[in-house]
Amino acid sequence: MEAIVLAAGKGTRMCSELPKVLHPVFGKPVLAYALEVLAKAGIKKPYVVVGYKADKVRSFLKPYGAVPVLQREQKGTGHAVMAAKAALANASGSVLIWPGDMPLVKPETLEKFLAAHQRSRAHVSVLSCDQADPWGYGRIVREEGLFAAIREEWDATPEERAIREVNTGIYLFDKKILFEALQKVGQNNRKGEYYLTDTLEILRREGYYVEALLLASAEEGQGINSQKDLATVTKKINGREIAKHQARGVTFMAPDQTFVAPGVKIGKGTMIYPWCFIETGAEIGAHCEIGPFAKLRGGVVIGDESVIGSFVEANRSRIGKKVSAKHLSYLGDAVIGDGANVGAGTITANFDGKKKQQTTIGKNVRVGANTVFVAPVRIPDGTTTGAGSVVIPKIKIKKGDVVVGVPARPLAKHKR
Ligand code: UD1
Ligand code: CA
Repeated sequence: MEAIVLAAGKGTRMCSELPKVLHPVFGKPVLAYALEVLAKAGIKKPYVVVGYKADKVRSFLKPYGAVPVLQREQKGTGHAVMAAKAALANASGSVLIWPGDMPLVKPETLEKFLAAHQRSRAHVSVLSCDQADPWGYGRIVREEGLFAAIREEWDATPEERAIREVNTGIYLFDKKILFEALQKVGQNNRKGEYYLTDTLEILRREGYYVEALLLASAEEGQGINSQKDLATVTKKINGREIAKHQARGVTFMAPDQTFVAPGVKIGKGTMIYPWCFIETGAEIGAHCEIGPFAKLRGGVVIGDESVIGSFVEANRSRIGKKVSAKHLSYLGDAVIGDGANVGAGTITANFDGKKKQQTTIGKNVRVGANTVFVAPVRIPDGTTTGAGSVVIPKIKIKKGDVVVGVPARPLAKHKR
């Protein structure tokens, strides 16, 4: 099976310079969500139709093994598929068509769709869903229950507009008839575009078996056409992620006020307070307390029973077990040993103006309030820093020392 992903449009309704499919949802472009679903279905080399800011979109394709095909002018979804004709010259069998702006469709639903298409032996199948508010989507028009046509919002009669079954923009075509039908598509519609959706009506009239399979949920059918849609989709993806963690025993005090990106690990019994932002790649142990107002970025690993409190940001850091960093800290490129207590206002100054430097804090270190670690520094186990210390690289610190001052020196050598 071959796949064509449509990603050439500007996304005019986004009112943005960035191509629509590159708008990020939790740091990852909308298009990447589509490519991940296709990869899960075993599609190794999807063709991606690019056009608006093509180079920019192309630069995201490589990790997915996707191959760009260029649609020079964007004259509609039918025209976009035509752009892939040459690339598919040697292909036979089925072609899956997938919009680049639908990141909520689940891999399970694609599997069901493929299976149902095979069972029915239709020449063309379109995946549909019911929308309580179908505005803007193409409606699935049926006659005596059987598929008749897809009618776009702007071309629909009032009766057709009342239909709630809508087109997701996902189709399976027999390759040969797809390109034959596309030759016959005109621009006779309100937008003056070549509609891919017209091919289904054309083929049905010619006697081919065209089926609409109502297998997607309303949520999955949510596409992105506007900034409002983008926010809706982000919220839904967040909700899905939080639900997965809840099912594994993580407590969220206020799920609607917490953001958890895909690809986060959280251990059982951990409590997440409101207004946390947890990015892809963060790993939190069991029985931790996080937030309120914590930001955990990629590469942060937190051991069991640690407390990361309010206004703490951590980035690329390994934080041990039973570590306490309860208030107002930045921990970047840090390694923090088990049992350490990080006082309020502690900052790892990890950037020397050229590159990021590491701070290593040993086990059971007691970091006094407002300590600044000017990285690279290494603090041995059991050390204590006084409030307001500025720890710099040059000064030697031994296990168990108490260091104070600016720059921080071991207390014994420090004038009291
Ligand atoms: C389309 C469908 C509609 C369906 C909806 C589902 C058509 C005519 N309409 O409408 O029935 O309910 O999707 O979300 O197909 N694109 C190109 N080149 C173009 C035009 C579009 O690559 O010349 C790409 C876009 O980048 C986008 C996708 O095709 O990723 C869909 O285009 P869009 O304009 O969003 O179509 P809708 O109006 O949402
Ligand atoms: Ca769309």
